[in-house]
Amino acid sequence: MRKLIFILFAVLFSATLSAQKYQPTWESIDSRPVPQWFGDVKFGIFIHWGVYSVPAWAPANADIGVYAKYAEWYWWRINEKSEAGKLFRDYHNKMYGENFYYQDFARDFNAKHFDPAHWANVFKKAGAKYVVLTSKHHEGFTLWPSEQSWNWNSVDIGPHRDLCGDLAKAVKDAGLRMGFYYSLYEWYNPLYKNNLEKYVDDHMIPQMKDLVTRYEPDILWTDGEWDHPSEKWKSTEFLAWLYNDSPVKNTVCVNDRWGKETRSKHGGYFTTEYGMVHEQTGVGEVERPWEECRGIGTSFGYNKIEDLNNYMSSDALVDLLIEKVAGGGNLLLDIGPTADGRIPVIQQQRLLDIGSWLDINGEAIYGTRKWEGSGKNKIENVFFTKKGADLYVLCTKFAEKEIVIEGISKAGEVKMLGVNQKVKVKKSGNKLVISPPAVNPAINPSPYAWVYKIENVL
Ligand code: GLC
Repeated sequence: MRKLIFILFAVLFSATLSAQKYQPTWESIDSRPVPQWFGDVKFGIFIHWGVYSVPAWAPANADIGVYAKYAEWYWWRINEKSEAGKLFRDYHNKMYGENFYYQDFARDFNAKHFDPAHWANVFKKAGAKYVVLTSKHHEGFTLWPSEQSWNWNSVDIGPHRDLCGDLAKAVKDAGLRMGFYYSLYEWYNPLYKNNLEKYVDDHMIPQMKDLVTRYEPDILWTDGEWDHPSEKWKSTEFLAWLYNDSPVKNTVCVNDRWGKETRSKHGGYFTTEYGMVHEQTGVGEVERPWEECRGIGTSFGYNKIEDLNNYMSSDALVDLLIEKVAGGGNLLLDIGPTADGRIPVIQQQRLLDIGSWLDINGEAIYGTRKWEGSGKNKIENVFFTKKGADLYVLCTKFAEKEIVIEGISKAGEVKMLGVNQKVKVKKSGNKLVISPPAVNPAINPSPYAWVYKIENVL
């Protein structure tokens, strides 16, 4: 009898285990919920840093569309037969000469001022809860000692340093989550160009597994997927390993960039970029957690000719964060460090201004979710988030007139975050009417956006 019970238990246990095994199919992979923590953290810092940080140039003010202003695409553009390509080539030949090759930039990618603890401190003060660093961009240069990328990595040449490892340690020591961007394709890798299957089996998958096992990231942010369907990239096989057998299988988050057919359809959380889904169809209404990413200016990689007119103001950046979070998403805001390892001071200033606003108003952002009643309350410059029974009303312009909110059945106490004054509120039917308080400069909690907290009304 005892033997029978043991056999039954063993069968039940292995059945449960195998039930958790994700199969290499999108149906199975997509069944894994995006870990809860991702929906709580809301604000992350994207970092585009690589050999492209040396030329650090793109025609920021030319009328050539969003993608041609990405400075991290410099190598591709100087070889591209296009209007944008001519602008990049003319610049390159004028500045460096026709006999100066992109690879020649690598020696000047020296990161000599790189101070990972300082970077992590800036991100923490910015109120960011996660960081995503380009471990390898489309140029194929790895910021860690990848054996598949011999002599084209940050330890063999340039910085002679494991930039991924050093930043991951500093970010985790600062209490933030660490993620890596990884480009599936490489523009000029002969293996990629001539034997895709061998590239995937012997280069790409081993690199991704190396990244995951070495640094145990919270996010693996893939990109550069558009040339081939996910089947060619063997994406579901890799994700089955990541979810079943990797050291981060229970906590890791991935995005939706796993093949030309997968954005806003498969993988983990969905991504938009400069407000666009890849096919330029505009921000899709998605059921899954999602994340907007963009630079502070027109580029992900540092562009040294960008001017103030290219940069979003701190006010606009706070409004962007509010808009994305109220829409149920996260904001992954990019910085482009210089080749010698500095975060440009204006970028630091923008981040710290966001952090100052979050110091006072962060409870209306972190751990919140989209309020289903926001659809019925389309009020200009007014956004909503919810947390438990509390409703937050985020005003990106100081409301001088009454704010009338429909669909509130209970009267809750209302206060403005950062202001120790009672806020006048009245109920009429299922509407709540907030009368903005008089706020003088001495008690003004923010120059950017103002938040009312309505307690116990949901
Ligand atoms: C696009 C660009 C790439 C950038 C990425 C960030 O895929 O090709 O340069 O890293 O967007 O979302």
